[in-house]
Order: sequence, then structure tokens, then C-alpha cells
Amino acid sequence: MRKEVPEKVSQTEIVFQVEEIEPILSPPNMKVAPWAPMYCDLKQKDGSKKTMLIRSIEREEIPLVLPYIKRYMDVDRDLYDVVGARVYAELLALWRNRIKDEYFLIGQVDGALAGIANGRLLNEKINISLHTMAFMRGMNAGAVLYYAKCVYCFETLNQEEFWATYESYNGWKRWGIGMALPTYPYPDVQHELGGARVFYLTRKYWDASIRDYTKQLAGTELLPDPSPELLARNKQLIIPDDILV
Ligand SMILES: CC(C)(COP(=O)(O)OP(=O)(O)OC[C@H]1O[C@@H](n2cnc3c(N)ncnc32)[C@H](O)[C@@H]1OP(=O)(O)O)[C@@H](O)C(=O)NCCC(=O)NCCS
Repeated sequence: MRKEVPEKVSQTEIVFQVEEIEPILSPPNMKVAPWAPMYCDLKQKDGSKKTMLIRSIEREEIPLVLPYIKRYMDVDRDLYDVVGARVYAELLALWRNRIKDEYFLIGQVDGALAGIANGRLLNEKINISLHTMAFMRGMNAGAVLYYAKCVYCFETLNQEEFWATYESYNGWKRWGIGMALPTYPYPDVQHELGGARVFYLTRKYWDASIRDYTKQLAGTELLPDPSPELLARNKQLIIPDDILV
């Protein structure tokens, strides 16, 4: 837009360095405790167990994970395409500093990427759940990864509410129904993912019931302080050759 200037000016042109513009376009992050790695044993359908480590993605791992997620954009089944496209955008935004306070957790089994779970902090009180994807199916990896976000919200950050929504039937079944979550009045309150319903979890409800969710649903427990051996085994991130749906 242009408008007539109200007075004589000594410079009719003001030039900016892009480094000066960047702080305006890239949101400053809050100073919060990072996710401390946790782990769990997951039962396979054949009865055997796998140990999954859940840790934050390292910045240098983002370019490895992006092309893998991108492949899910072509899966026109079970809403993988929508979820894949959105997770890709959220991870890219993290890489390019274009998202506020995102956290991005990865699940690993013997180094291999088993799933992801991400979210972002709206403010000190509210944690927005973004997405969860399981790349190893049938062992509740996704269920526990999602639960990890709630642990981060209520146990690490001491926040008051966790706001989720679900694009897929599997997600809704696992957590909307699985955690018996209430919703805010709709459409008065909308989730940032497509303006969908907000399913919310309060601290009171977490304390009263949901803390036991992984024990009930996945028959496992998310445990702190993984051994140095487990951390070492998962230091190198292995991207699976194939996508599993
Ligand atoms: C939602 C999701 C994270 C849940 O992961 P999970 O807890 O590890 O659970 P799984 O995907 O392994 O299994 C979910 C159910 O689908 C069944 N299932 C469907 N396809 C399956 C497959 N190819 N292999 C194994 N199980 C499959 C499972 O038996 C299980 O049934 P159950 O609820 O009776 O146990 C996962 O299904 C996923 O990544 N979906 C695509 C992305 C998505 O929808 N994310 C959530 C957005 S709201």
C-alpha cells in the first residue's frame, strides 16, 4: 500500500537486511524443559517384546526424516495422506524456524524409526497436540508416543490442558475414545488442524485417570532414565526402507 507522506523526509527509501526481518517472521521460542528420553516395552502380536526409546529428534536428523514422511503423502488410505502432508509441513517448519514452540518426538526400536509424535506449546498453560504416526504397526507404538506428549504436557511442563483433534478413525479410536476425552463446544472452539473439534485433557482428568492409559491400553509403562546402553543403541537413527501401512 502507498500513502502520501505527511512531511519532508531525508531518506525516501529505507532498506532492511533480511536478518533484521527474520526475528519478526520467525517466532521466538519459550524457555522450557526439553523432553527427557523415556522408554517402554511393546508387545508384538506374536508375544515377543520390543523396547522403544522415545527421544526428541536432533536437528541434523530432520533432513533424513523429511523424505520418509513425504512418502506417506501418496498413501490414499486411512488418512495417511493428510497426516503425512501435515507432519511433513510441521517438520519442515521446525527446520526452517516457521513454527512456534514445536516439539517433535521420535520412537526408535534398535535405532529404527518406529513412529513420531509432535505438538506445540500455545502458551505456558496449553499444549497443542499435532500428530502421531506409527511406522511399525500392531504393537501400540503410536498409542504410547501420543501418551508421551501428555506426559510432557502434565509431568514435565506442568501445563493445564492438552488439546487434540483427530483426522483419522484410528486416531479417534485410540485416543478420543481410548482416553474418553470430552470436547469443547463446536464450532465456538476450533483446533488449529483444519478447524476441527478440540478434544481436551485437563490436569484433573490426567491425575484421576489418564496417567494409567498406557498400562490399560498397551499393557506397558513409559519409564524414565533409559540405560546408557539403550541410548547408545538408538543414537544412530535408521530410516526404514519401506513405508508400512
Ligand atoms: C493412529 C496410529 C498412530 C495408531 O498407532 P498404534 O497405536 O501403533 O496402532 P496401530 O496402527 O499399530 O494399530 C491400530 C489398530 O489398527 C489395526 N491395524 C490396521 N492396520 C494395521 C496394519 N497394517 N498392521 C497392524 N495393525 C493394523 C491394529 O490391529 C489396531 O487395532 P486395535 O485397535 O484393535 O488394536 C497409527 O494407526 C497411524 O500411524 N495411523 C496413520 C496416521 C494417523 O492416523 N495418525 C493419527 C492422526 S489423528
